[in-house]
Amino acid sequence: MAEAKTGVRTIDAAYHKLLNEETRQIPSSYRRDNPIAPGPTKVPVERYISPAFFELEVEKIWKRVWQVACHEDDIPNVGDYVPYDIAGLSFLVIRSAPNEIKAFWNACLHRGRKLREAPGKSAKELRCPFHAWTWNIDGSLRQIPCQWDYPGLKAENEGLKPVKVGVWGRFVFINPDMNCEPLETFLGDLPSHFELLPYEKRYKQAHVARVIRCNWKVASEAFMESYHVIATHPQILLGGVHDVDTKYDVFGNYSRAIRCGALESQGVPEWDALPNDDKLRVRHPLNGWVYERTDDGNVQVSTPKGETGLYTVNGDCIEGELGDVNPHLCDWVGGRQLDVSSFERAMSDRTAKTGGGNTDNKKPTHPRVAFAQTQREALKQVIPSVADQIADIEFASVFFTLFPNFHPWGSFNRLVYRFRPNGRNVDECIMEAIYLAPIPENGEAYEPCREIHWLGPDDDWTDAPELGMLAKVFNQDIRNLPYVQLGLHTMPRDYLQFSDYNETKPRHLHMLMDEWISRP
Ligand code: FES
Ligand SMILES: [Fe+2]
Repeated sequence: MAEAKTGVRTIDAAYHKLLNEETRQIPSSYRRDNPIAPGPTKVPVERYISPAFFELEVEKIWKRVWQVACHEDDIPNVGDYVPYDIAGLSFLVIRSAPNEIKAFWNACLHRGRKLREAPGKSAKELRCPFHAWTWNIDGSLRQIPCQWDYPGLKAENEGLKPVKVGVWGRFVFINPDMNCEPLETFLGDLPSHFELLPYEKRYKQAHVARVIRCNWKVASEAFMESYHVIATHPQILLGGVHDVDTKYDVFGNYSRAIRCGALESQGVPEWDALPNDDKLRVRHPLNGWVYERTDDGNVQVSTPKGETGLYTVNGDCIEGELGDVNPHLCDWVGGRQLDVSSFERAMSDRTAKTGGGNTDNKKPTHPRVAFAQTQREALKQVIPSVADQIADIEFASVFFTLFPNFHPWGSFNRLVYRFRPNGRNVDECIMEAIYLAPIPENGEAYEPCREIHWLGPDDDWTDAPELGMLAKVFNQDIRNLPYVQLGLHTMPRDYLQFSDYNETKPRHLHMLMDEWISRP
């Protein structure tokens, strides 16, 4: 299947030097290196487009693996339930007692109707809407109308069929395989990476879901690496968010990326500072072209030689002779803008503070340090007992992938992703972005989010303003993905290629897939 060759790993020394310069104590998990076996990897295209391979995933992975079904905040009270749909399968997760969560195959044992299509609250029983077969919320049979018509039926054989349930960090996992390993074994030492602010101490603040027209792995892999930042998010390429800035490691069933925000990219030219006025503009750090928002939401692009052109938010030319421009930067400065703090905008556009155009002789505070300090100050209001202990590195972008599809971000980032097939469609998936905020230590009231904000496949992420500037970042990411899927269908050879180092995490996903699919 996956074919690997020898390669090299280079970033660890620079990363550890950075840790050694910190004045606060570094959690031991940040000092751990666990490189994947080296080698660029060829992965068959059929994994992304073949219905036969999709079936293999259902049988060998989705029916056997621990997977996040919901969050405890989705089902706070007895009788609250959430259907969890995955690859054409469905499970019903329900709080059956104050300290007990159960999950069942979400299908009536009479003629198969899906028992529940949407989340619900405070159920006293589960009555099938078709002919009213009814179960208690612990899954035991309660009633069959006209039971006299089923001679020989034994109530004890008609309980809802359970699946395994486990909880980590207030995430509710299920596993359809009743003979599976315990969740704790599957997770391994993943919890050791979340010591200062474990997920047990967070609540669900926002939950946005959107259908994407690509295979679930295309989307999931797009959020595993920093390599794409060069082309897709050039506005954050400087200031330490780029190709040679991210450290990748793998540990059992999960992989980790730490985008340090400190190690400077090589070969990026120096540019003049951009004017400091209220115009929204960014410079592409590689070719120096400046993208500037016009009053009507289009984008004026200017080259260092003084050539200009006018473009739409999608990068389509309105006038001028510049030819192709970067559509992701057109989206960044054009179209709908969000009402976010200047701090958040600056953190999303680090060139504003550290760009090569800074001609000042004084070395500015590095944005990662300034960001960490501002975050610490904000967290002091919420979790004062730990806020001051947090090292700068913990405010870096630390993103994990737990096989197969769950992406909890590390440390003090609120973000979690989940990617799953959209029904049985090999060419579509559902991407979810969930924010989890620290539970205030002072007992202050907070309201967990229980609604999923669904976006349509053609909606703009800015339709979910609760995501803040991340919505604009997602627009850039998601712009690529349907075209990746179309490209895979037309690719003139039968494999794609992951690089040795930057694509460590997708390689790890496919290594684990190899392993699971080859199991009897
Ligand atoms: S299908 Fe559920 S009661 Fe008939
Ligand atoms: Fe991205």
